Amino acid sequence: MSTPSTHIYPVFDRMLQRSDKEQLLGQHGVMLWFTGLSGSGKTTICLALERELHRRGLLCRVLDGDNIRTGINSNLGFSEADRRENIRRIAEVGRLFVDTGIITLAAFISPTEELRTLARDIIGPADFKEIYVSTPLAVCEERDVKGLYAKARRGEVTHFTGISAPFEAPADPALTIDTSVCPLAESVDRLLRLLGIDTDTSHTPTQP
Ligand code: ADX
Repeated sequence: MSTPSTHIYPVFDRMLQRSDKEQLLGQHGVMLWFTGLSGSGKTTICLALERELHRRGLLCRVLDGDNIRTGINSNLGFSEADRRENIRRIAEVGRLFVDTGIITLAAFISPTEELRTLARDIIGPADFKEIYVSTPLAVCEERDVKGLYAKARRGEVTHFTGISAPFEAPADPALTIDTSVCPLAESVDRLLRLLGIDTDTSHTPTQP
């Protein structure tokens, strides 16, 4: 019986290697995977970190839930199966960036251990650093930047994470950031240190 990979002849071994790309860029590829509730601050942190890395001459790429869902994943909703496919595609795309030597920042709710394990397995555990943006639900709901919590409470948005769909906190994240108590500049510094980057040089992360 023919499977989807029948008659497919990958050329991985003839392509330039990741080490060739990393040498060219003078940096190492890595995936920082941000998980947390909607409104917890994942995107804000990623955008500030992106600017700081860029300022330091490091090449990075942000992959963000709301952006990706307008493009490659515009056909997906929020059922369990769709969230799984959302994360699977992002992880596959993320791996391409990491294999190109790029510091990749992924901001997706990715609400369950199963989904984050899927991402980790696709990307490879050595390149995958999980960041838990642990801002409490009450704070995210109070912020309600997009008005979605209010809609979810009124039943106008279904399967909403934290309200009508589950969120499982990661068991062993590389870093936990609660944006209700940790200022943005400090979050960026903690992430730079996680990446092994010297934070002595003073900076003011700019919010786009
Ligand atoms: S994930 O659960 O599949 O990882 P993802 O990060 O891509 O979610 O998208 C989350 C964003 O989609 C939220 O920040 C919010 O703006 C929007 N959204 C729309 N409907 C929902 C929903 N039912 N649950 C969570 N987020 C939703």
